[in-house]
Amino acid sequence: MASCFVLTDGSSAAIAFYTLTATSIALHDLPASMAKKLPRYPSVPATLMGRLAVDHRYRGQRLGELMIMDAFSRTLRSEIATYAFVVDAKDERTASFYKAYDFLQLGEVQNRLFMPMAEIAKLFA
Ligand SMILES: CC(C)(COP(=O)(O)OP(=O)(O)OC[C@H]1O[C@@H](n2cnc3c(N)ncnc32)[C@H](O)[C@@H]1OP(=O)(O)O)[C@@H](O)C(=O)NCCC(=O)NCCS
Repeated sequence: MASCFVLTDGSSAAIAFYTLTATSIALHDLPASMAKKLPRYPSVPATLMGRLAVDHRYRGQRLGELMIMDAFSRTLRSEIATYAFVVDAKDERTASFYKAYDFLQLGEVQNRLFMPMAEIAKLFA
């Protein structure tokens, strides 16, 4: 179950899409400096971008970036509390795409990355 957000060219053709779902982050997967500022629950709520893709004909036009910013903006506007935005990069190369936007490694799971909502809020301040 996921909410899917689609960018179209004005017709029915999809140019790009991403999905969002609720997830959680185990406190022990966060850097100690962040975890120590949080209540001592086992986990905190988070938002997972499960899929992000841009049609290959439209790549390199900053639509991937536009979709991430759109997802950030929606998550910030949500009235449901979320501590961080999480992504599962499919490989090292895509992990580097997210790291360029300052995503951080989350725990031991390879290529699972996150960004605290407090950092995302600064982008829109
Ligand atoms: C990854 C993807 C969404 C990027 O979309 P895009 O519209 O081509 O990317 P943008 O034009 O917004 O590029 C933004 C920056 O990311 C870089 N980048 C683009 N695709 C990248 C990739 N696959 N790996 C690493 N960096 C990438 C660009 O070079 C650009 O960097 P710059 O700021 O130094 O110029 C797109 O290539 C895609 O759909 N790939 C297949 C699915 C996928 O891998 N999804 C990721 C989720 S696991």
